[in-house]
Amino acid sequence: MTRFNRMLLVAAGAAAVALGGATNGWADAAGAKKEAQEIFAMRCTPCHGPSGAGDGPGSAGLTPKPRNFTDPEWQKSVTDAHIENIIKFGGIAVGKSPAMPSNPDLMAKPEVVTALRELVRSFKK
Ligand code: HEC
Repeated sequence: MTRFNRMLLVAAGAAAVALGGATNGWADAAGAKKEAQEIFAMRCTPCHGPSGAGDGPGSAGLTPKPRNFTDPEWQKSVTDAHIENIIKFGGIAVGKSPAMPSNPDLMAKPEVVTALRELVRSFKK
């Protein structure tokens, strides 16, 4: 093998690694988004409703009611950190209703918590 050919091979290898890394990063973000959507449908929709309006079937007996995530005023009133904390630690931990459950399994999945927060933000009208 000539020296030039060997250099080409090395360059091709480096490009493959770089591409592979980029693809994985993208897959992780897309995977977290998908997982967040599945979690929202399964765990959050019963109270918060499919469009985040706070009108899930489980909201009927709750006082206070789950907030209306589509309301721009509500969106302005909460920080990203607050949304992520209440998802992880539950209502009691942040001085809100105990009806809002914690999700301890998500502590180890910060990318899914971020994706859930983005999903909550996306309901804004
Ligand atoms: C058993 C019903 C119930 C389930 C299930 C539930 N929530 Fe809640 N959630 C509530 C209630 C009730 C509140 C309002 C708490 C308050 O304002 O005191 C709340 C509050 C919140 C808030 C903050 C509102 C605010 O103004 O501080 C966010 C964000 C939120 N929930 C997201 C979620 C997500 C995401 C899930 C699913 C992982 C989920 N909730 C599951 C009942 C529920």
